Parts: sequence; structure tokens; C-alpha cells
Amino acid sequence: MQSIEANGYSIIFGESGYDDFNKLIEQNNYSIIFILVDSITNEYCLPKFLPFLATEKTIEIIEIEPGESEKNITTCVEIWSILTEVGADRKSLLLNLGGGIITDIGGFVASTFKRGIDFINIPTTLLAMVDASIGGKNGVDLGNLKNQIGVINVPKMVLVDPKYLTTLPQNEMRSGLAEMLKHGLIFDAQYWSEFIDLNTVDFADFDSLIYRSIEIKNEIVMQDPSENGIRKALNFGHTLGHAIESYFLENENKKILLHGEAIAVGMILESYISWEKELISKTEYLEVKNLIKSVFETIVFEENDLQPILDLLIHDKKNEYGKIQFALLNGIGKIKINQEVDNEMIMKSFADYKS
Ligand SMILES: NC(=O)c1ccc[n+]([C@@H]2O[C@H](COP(=O)([O-])OP(=O)(O)OC[C@H]3O[C@@H](n4cnc5c(N)ncnc54)[C@H](O)[C@@H]3O)[C@@H](O)[C@H]2O)c1
Repeated sequence: MQSIEANGYSIIFGESGYDDFNKLIEQNNYSIIFILVDSITNEYCLPKFLPFLATEKTIEIIEIEPGESEKNITTCVEIWSILTEVGADRKSLLLNLGGGIITDIGGFVASTFKRGIDFINIPTTLLAMVDASIGGKNGVDLGNLKNQIGVINVPKMVLVDPKYLTTLPQNEMRSGLAEMLKHGLIFDAQYWSEFIDLNTVDFADFDSLIYRSIEIKNEIVMQDPSENGIRKALNFGHTLGHAIESYFLENENKKILLHGEAIAVGMILESYISWEKELISKTEYLEVKNLIKSVFETIVFEENDLQPILDLLIHDKKNEYGKIQFALLNGIGKIKINQEVDNEMIMKSFADYKS
């Protein structure tokens, strides 16, 4: 079994991890075990998970609807109410079995219910495995503003079992791939280079790519758990990516973008800005742009989309003293945080993205 030590918990990898998982549950003598799922992970993932759960304790399933539009405080109130009705106490455990929506909401609900109960993340999407389920960020959206309400609080354990991915649709796999590419770009040039020709990526060995991605995210979080410095590197592509995601979420005429789809655009735009600021070469910029465009379709932005997207940047959580702060590439595999960028340069990046 492979295991990665995180700040106060372990990330256990692979099917043999269920032994440690069951041991942890037994040691903590929980009163009731709640499993949070959405209707899709209830159908596809719960039947794969339950045979591995070895406990005599009462198990209660809580199901919510899938989708980013459910990641809000109303859904939290529903879950807190169910926990209360079923008699959850401070010795209850919440297992979050699902993608990033389930781990984000579940972690927040658990962290705040009776001032905090234990939770364990069992991510079932690629994005949640390599990113959302680790690092301790939990929370919900406020209206269309992403992740405005939340806490940093770590799970008791994260159990990553790639077998759940066999039912994950291709577009959701791509969404997770965006975060893996980001990990290479910001931290590990060698890892990035493994993706440069996607036709030659050995997907039979995908587990080891997932594992490396988790290591990178964890290493960055361990250095800076409360995001005062290097953890801001993980926001590469997310300053513009989140604004684009929020804008498309609230705009009825736009299709809703998956998180990774929006981040893919954000990474191209922010790589362009990195090039303009002479932090990467033109060759490096084109390598990033061409690789990402070979995986993700080009999103069409109308002229009148851009100002509302710029307006949304004001709400980015990295901002300090009213200034919008970017994490930009500083060569492939390195990052420069707290970079100010003017609107004119952002407009230029959108113009170049089209080409
Ligand atoms: N907390 C963090 O550090 C962090 C980091 C990155 C992203 N996020 C958040 O994660 C969220 C996105 O997560 P996501 O992409 O996993 O979305 P998601 O949870 O909506 O999952 C995507 C879809 O796949 C379905 N699904 C899940 N597992 C499946 C499986 N094994 N087989 C078939 N279908 C399955 C889900 O029901 C859903 O419809 C966003 O809200 C984003 O803000 C959080």
C-alpha cells in the first residue's frame, strides 16, 4: 500500500488502503457513520465502496443532487437538518464519497456541525483525487461566486482508489487532467514533460501519474497550509479561470463549464501574461497553449463577456488590499506569486487565446 503523510492525516492510495481505513474507523469508535453521496455516486460508487466497509455501526446514506449549482448553503442546511433528525452527535463520522462538490460541501458541513465532527474523503473523480479532496479547503459558493464561504480543516484520512474512475465520463477525466497539468507547470517540469505528447502518455500507468500529482499538491500544502505564500502557486490558472467559471455559471446564454475546462482557459491566459512579463519564453508559452488546446475545445468569448469577467476578479480570494494578485509561471515548473496585472494585459491575453 502507498501512503502519503499530510498535515495531520494520511492520504492512502489503492485498494489495500481499505485495511487502514477500517482500522481508523474501529479505533475511533464512531457512533453513527454517515455517507454523503450525490445521486450519481450513489448509483456508481456506493455499490463498489460498501463491500470494503467493515463495521457493525449504523450506516446512514445522505444523497444530494449533483452539480456545482448544489454547492451552496441551502444544501448545507439540508444536510445539517438530516444529521440532526437522525441523531448525529459529536462522535459521528461523515464519509464524503464523490467528486469535488461532495468533498467540498461534506468537509464544510462536518467542520461546522456541532463545532466539528470527523470526516474522511473518498474521492471518485480524477479532479477530486488529485486536488479537491486533499489540502483541507472546504466550502461552498455564494450565489455565483466560487468558494466564498468555507474553512480550512483537514479530514481524518483521504482514501484514493482509482477503480472509481472506470465509470467517470471522458469530459470529467479531462477536467481532472487540467489540474494534473497545472501541477507539472507550477512545480515539476519533468512531470509536465510527461504530458507534452499526450498520444504517447502511458495511460496503463495512469495510477502513478495520479500519485505524483497528489504528492505535488500535498508537498505545496505542507509548506504553507494557510496560504500565506507558496500555496498561492496552486491558484495558477484559477484567477481568470474562476472568474470565467463564475460568469458562465450565472449567464443563461452560456453553457456551464466544468471546473477543469475553465481552469484550462485560465492557464493559457495566465501563461500568455507570464510570457508578456518575460517570465517564460515564447516557445514555452506556445508549448503550454498548444498542449492545452489539443485536449480542451476553445471557448468562444464575445466582446461584451470580457468586462463582466474582469469585474468578477475583484472577488478573488488571493486579493489583498483591493489589489488583484496573480500566480504566474516563472519558467516551466516554477511560479512567482503576488503578481499584479493590469486590465489591458488581460484583454490582450483573451485576444491571443482566440488565435
Ligand atoms: N477544495 C479544493 O481544494 C478544491 C480544489 C479543486 C476543485 N475544487 C472544487 O471541486 C469541484 C469540482 O469537482 P469535480 O470536478 O469532482 O465535480 P463533481 O463533484 O461535480 O463531479 C463531477 C460529476 O461526476 C459525477 N461522478 C463523480 N464520481 C463519478 C464516478 N466515479 N463515475 C461517474 N460519475 C461520477 C458527479 O456526480 C458529477 O456529476 C468544484 O466545485 C471546485 O471548486 C475544490
